This record gives sequence, structure tokens and C-alpha cells, in this order.
Amino acid sequence: MSRNILGIRHLKSDSIQELLELSQSYKKLIEAGKPITGVPSKTVGLLFFEASTRTRVSFEQAANYLGYHVSVFAAQSSSLSKGETLKDTVLTLKGERIEGLVMRHRASGSAQLAASFFGGPVVNAGDGEHEHPTQALGDALTILERKKTLKGLKVAIVGDVLHSRVARSNAWLLSKMGAEVRFVGPKILMPASNALLPGMIYNELLPGIQECDVVMCLRLQKERMADGLLSSIGQYRRLYQVNRETLKIAAPDALVMHPGPLNRGVELDDWAADGPLSVIQDQIENGIFVRMAALTWVFSSQGKPKPGNKLAKKPRVEAKA
Ligand code: CP
Repeated sequence: MSRNILGIRHLKSDSIQELLELSQSYKKLIEAGKPITGVPSKTVGLLFFEASTRTRVSFEQAANYLGYHVSVFAAQSSSLSKGETLKDTVLTLKGERIEGLVMRHRASGSAQLAASFFGGPVVNAGDGEHEHPTQALGDALTILERKKTLKGLKVAIVGDVLHSRVARSNAWLLSKMGAEVRFVGPKILMPASNALLPGMIYNELLPGIQECDVVMCLRLQKERMADGLLSSIGQYRRLYQVNRETLKIAAPDALVMHPGPLNRGVELDDWAADGPLSVIQDQIENGIFVRMAALTWVFSSQGKPKPGNKLAKKPRVEAKA
């Protein structure tokens, strides 16, 4: 039976570890210029009903490396623009013998809905304000490369946590793997207490990022200004910008992360975005390897998927019991 990756919340830490190890294996092979062999060819539909650069391109790259065939659907050029429902679109793709789906949609829960109609492997590429699991996997891989473990790390997630699927997936993943998660930002952008997200809330930037090993900024969704949730971008910048000055309070070797797209000069200054602490480019590149792992994993039945090539056994990533 195939599997889905609809979110991190319901993924076991063993599965997260398996996906990260597989990502590391793929990265090693690609960097060594070795071909990926032994992976059965599949036809995957990429359904992006919402704008994307990083996620869409890295899924395409991942599929290319795996030797998969890809059909890319954009809402504007599909029959959705003529009023076809998500259910009928998904059933049509099933009828067209598409074997797996990767989907981004603005509605929370849409990936689950698509999986219920499609039946086969589905990977959530971001659904509304719910989850963005492959972003969190790529972020975890990036942190692991620099810090060797996630266990015991202090990670501040700064900005619009309330509306962020990236924050949700990262909070679940990091806490499952033993990191301490902090949510930092104005009260109005913090999760409601009944969201039950794992993490401590800090409404001031400096106490929130103090001694943190990782400072993960979120995109300030300018559309929230229109909602009247924030008084001004200038005020947000003054109180919450991660920059050369404010980063002095974080750990000296802190990693600065951002899922993109960035509002340069708002969530972070140029020094934070491009300077020695930034791992933003690594996050982008690692997106390819975790998506290779995600695609292989969902197509494999229960049990450890094999990357095809024979690989040296890697040490396990430390996980919370
Ligand atoms: N991080 C992220 O999801 O970026 P895109 O919207 O460009 O895919």
C-alpha cells in the first residue's frame, strides 16, 4: 500500500528520521555525480493551485533526478478555471493514469481531501494555513548539516505564526525530534492557545531569540495589513526585524533561516539574509533532496524505501524517545 505525506503532525519520529536519512543519501549521490538507479519510474502530477517558486521547481528537480515523468498543472490553464471542482480534477488525473500527486492549494485540509479522492500517494506541498511538510523536512536537513543533531536545540520561529503552515510543520517536526521551540511575535500573530502547537510564546524579539541556536524568520504576509491585523510594516520592522544588531543576543553561531519568499528589509536585513549566519540558500537546495525522499517514500509500501544505489549505513539522527 502506498503512503501519503499530508503533514508532520501525524508523522512518527521514526518516519521523519527515515525521510531525513534518505534525503542525506540522495544528496550524497547527487553531489558525487552518481546516477540514481533502481527507482521504479512513476508518473507524478504537480498541482499548484497557488503561486510557488521554490517548492514547485524543487519537486520538478526531484522528479527529474528520480527519472519520474511529471505533468505540471496550474490552476489558470486547467479546467478549474472553467469551474471544475477539486474532486473532479483529482478523479480526472486518476483516470489519466497519474500515479501520484503533489498538491499546493490555498485551502487548509485540501491535501487530505485530494488524498481521499485519489487514493494513491499524495504529498502536501502546502495547504492554506495548515502544513507544509516538505519545507520542514528541508529545514531540518539544513539544521542537521550544521548542528549534527536537532535534540536540545533552541529554535525561535519569528513572525506571523498564526497564519503560517511553515511554522506549524516546523514546530511539530522540531519538537518531535527533541528541539525546544519558541514562537516569537506580536500577540495578534501568535497561535491561539487551543491550537495546541508545541512551543513557548514570546511577544518580544530579544527575549525570544536570546541564546537561540536557530532563528527562523517567517514571511510577513502583507495581506494581513489589509486585514487590519498589523498597524504598519514600519512598526513590525522596528520591533521584530532580525538583523545584525538583534542577532547579537542569539547564540554566536546561530543559523538564520527563512522559507522564502523574503520581504527584504522587513523580516530581516541584508546582513541577516546574506551574511555568515544565513543558511537560506542551503534551505532552497536541500528542498530538492527531501522532495526526492518524500516521493520515493510515498511510493514505497510500508518498510524502509531504498534509494536504489548501495549506500554506506549512516548514523541515525537523534530523535526524542
Ligand atoms: N517556501 C515556499 O513554500 O516557497 P514557494 O512559495 O516559493 O514554494
